[in-house]
Amino acid sequence: MWQLKPLLLLLGVVLSAPACTVAGDGGMPLVIPITKDAATMLYSVSAPVAENDQITNHLVLDLSGPIIWSTCPDGYVALGCTSPACMQAHRFHPPNCPQTGYGRPDADNPHRCKCTAHPYNPVTGDTASDDMTEFTTTVNTTDGKNPLKEVSFVVATSCAPESLLAGLPENDVGVVGLGRSALALPAQIADTQKVATKFALCLPSGGSDGVAIFGGGPLFLLPPGRPDVVATLAGDTPLVKHGRSPGYFISADKGIAVNQAQVRLDGNGHAATPLVVGLSSTIPYTELRSDVYWAFITAFNMSTAERARVTPAVAPFELCYDSTQLGSTRLGYAVPQIDLMLQGGKNWTIFGANSMAQVNDHTACLAFVQMKGEHKQYGYGGAATEAPAVVIGGFQMENNLLVLDEENQQLGFSSLLFGRQTTCSNFNFTIAA
Ligand SMILES: *[C@@H]1O[C@H](CO)[C@@H](O)[C@H](O)[C@H]1NC(C)=O
Ligand SMILES: *[C@@H]1O[C@H](CO)[C@@H](O)[C@H](O)[C@H]1NC(C)=O
Ligand SMILES: *[C@@H]1O[C@H](CO)[C@@H](O)[C@H](O)[C@H]1NC(C)=O
Ligand SMILES: *[C@@H]1O[C@H](CO)[C@@H](O)[C@H](O)[C@H]1NC(C)=O
Repeated sequence: MWQLKPLLLLLGVVLSAPACTVAGDGGMPLVIPITKDAATMLYSVSAPVAENDQITNHLVLDLSGPIIWSTCPDGYVALGCTSPACMQAHRFHPPNCPQTGYGRPDADNPHRCKCTAHPYNPVTGDTASDDMTEFTTTVNTTDGKNPLKEVSFVVATSCAPESLLAGLPENDVGVVGLGRSALALPAQIADTQKVATKFALCLPSGGSDGVAIFGGGPLFLLPPGRPDVVATLAGDTPLVKHGRSPGYFISADKGIAVNQAQVRLDGNGHAATPLVVGLSSTIPYTELRSDVYWAFITAFNMSTAERARVTPAVAPFELCYDSTQLGSTRLGYAVPQIDLMLQGGKNWTIFGANSMAQVNDHTACLAFVQMKGEHKQYGYGGAATEAPAVVIGGFQMENNLLVLDEENQQLGFSSLLFGRQTTCSNFNFTIAA
């Protein structure tokens, strides 16, 4: 028995190595539509289960999630403790969850060990322990313009109790992790489809579906004749690690600028720059650590001093304006632009459509909020990890194409697609003729 663990560890290393060398070898990228739930402001995908294609399961997208989990049908088969997926399931451990080893005895067969995983709800911060299993899912391949044809493949997932669904959209039955982990969807697709561990994410602002392309691209958005968005990005920046989190982080070397003027950050006990910037699809608005938040709010307030305010501000926001007097451009309200000045020299520029939330007919508010302690999203890897300075939320990512490239450890971004007269809801989901 004492030999089991080292043997498994070795196996894990051997199994994960070929994935890097074969990636990108001729597979077709896959396309998945993304919906936004108005009530929870969460983004979901549908994952039909082939054995029972009457059931289309909706699962919440979690950019930082390391696994895929859902409630399981009766009669599912638990994976054994020596399966490679079981090894991977234990690389990330949610906070407050005791390390319980790889599994537990199978009640029907005491000599068999059933693999246990630890699904995590990014909205409530709750965790559970349940069996690892696998199911067949069906997704369309794409040439970047249309869906082409359906392919089915097996994904390793975790079961979860019904109670873990709290806070998710009404019809959703689990969470699809898109994080930097072998059991997250991008890596499982890369592995089974022989495409790069790289995906393009285009979150919709509501109404019609947004789009994700696994394998990276190309991606063409209507109207026809436009260039591939993935090949014409506005910029890129290295992905950085933050503690042991499976999430995506980048570094804002020179901090933040409002109206082209750098926001003065005094650090307040923190290093002023570089700022660690996380990405989260499960918080509605960008959260700023309090020292950064107040410096940023003050700068934005000063640069909009002459604009008509609505007071008191509408919670959770601090600065609200009479939207009838803000003026509109094709990039949204005519407000000062916000630049995240990133490692590598490129800016992630945020225009009115991504900075101002319409809270009622005549009021729009600066849609950034103050971080409350360390966000639950970053609990993976232990409480010792300091909260990032900025966590970019859903509203700020909508209608911007993001390319999360694990293979080259890079984040690419298109900037607001309105500038190209298109949106994330302009993928042509009609099957190619
Ligand atoms: C593939 O695309 C077609 C056309 O959009 C759609 O009807 C079908 O449901 C898609 N298949 C899957 C598995 O999503
Ligand atoms: C980035 O933004 C800053 C502040 O607005 C500006 O001074 C700088 O020129 C921008 N850099 C690039 C590469 O656009
Ligand atoms: C914004 O500036 C005005 C005028 O200087 C000031 O009265 C107000 O308190 C400021 N608001 C915030 C949130 O800093
Ligand atoms: C969408 O794709 C279908 C199939 O290729 C094509 O017939 C249709 O014209 C496209 N729609 C638009 C608006 O280009």
